[in-house]
Amino acid sequence: MTKVLIATEKPFAPVAVEGIKKEVDAAGFELAILEKYTEKQQLLDAVADADAIIIRSDKIDAEVLDAAKQLKIVVRAGAGYDNVDLDAATAHNVVVMNTPGQNANAVAELVFGLLVFAVRNFFNGKAGTELLGKKLGILAFGNVGRNVARIAKGFGMEVYAYDAYCPAEVIEAAGVHAAKNQDELFETCDVVSLHIPATAETKQSINKALVSKMKKGGIVVNTARKEVINEPELIELLAERTDLKYITDIKPDADAEFAQFEGRYFSTPKKMGAQTAEANINAGIAAAKQIVGFIKDGITKFQVNK
Ligand code: 3PG
Repeated sequence: MTKVLIATEKPFAPVAVEGIKKEVDAAGFELAILEKYTEKQQLLDAVADADAIIIRSDKIDAEVLDAAKQLKIVVRAGAGYDNVDLDAATAHNVVVMNTPGQNANAVAELVFGLLVFAVRNFFNGKAGTELLGKKLGILAFGNVGRNVARIAKGFGMEVYAYDAYCPAEVIEAAGVHAAKNQDELFETCDVVSLHIPATAETKQSINKALVSKMKKGGIVVNTARKEVINEPELIELLAERTDLKYITDIKPDADAEFAQFEGRYFSTPKKMGAQTAEANINAGIAAAKQIVGFIKDGITKFQVNK
């Protein structure tokens, strides 16, 4: 019997697991669940007889693929697949997919949760500022960036975006000002929200030279990936520019050093942008359906290691 494994160090909401189980049962497949694992060995053991795996930010590397002798497909229930070694998967003849857009609203809503928290001085009771009329810069206009733009308009913000892979006309057609480049976005906006994936091109790209272009009181919100930040340079800049704030739901490697910027730095204890029941249901069930579609009918839409 085809075995589908949910391997999530950070579990889905139980209602999402129920939804996944329904899809898997209806296909006549078997479901196994490994949640909250703490050792890689637990993952290596669990994948041994899996034909398909549903993951979140769980790392799938060559060692895991070696251990998964029957594996045909891995679906990352979410957007970013930088946690999967695509070359190793291809070499093992394993299809990798993501579920683009399924958790985008959840991440976008968290951006504003973090942002209101930041402009109200982390709720310390002192007079803060408002978002109305402020300029918001969205770096990368994908599914999350577009949801951020939609919500920002409700706050009455002036919205700008830059995306190296999305033409200015598409951005303008969404009622958003298209910045010419990253530099212009940081120069123009009071707040910049990051929505770039972690790639060879973007890693460490949010550096001192770029962020220092921000106006007085600038805020950088990072719900994307910690790898896109040049942490030593951002720490250096926050020390020099006591007006800037950095808020994120992804704990930096240098969290202890960032902690010195009390009142200007905040990180949630665990990555939580996509951690809602709705996002878990959307992404989890999409992942299960994609697995069934691939195994039964060979459908490879959303494959990312082509
Ligand atoms: C994504 O890439 O989809 C988000 O970063 C969510 O990641 P998570 O599933 O680990 O919460």
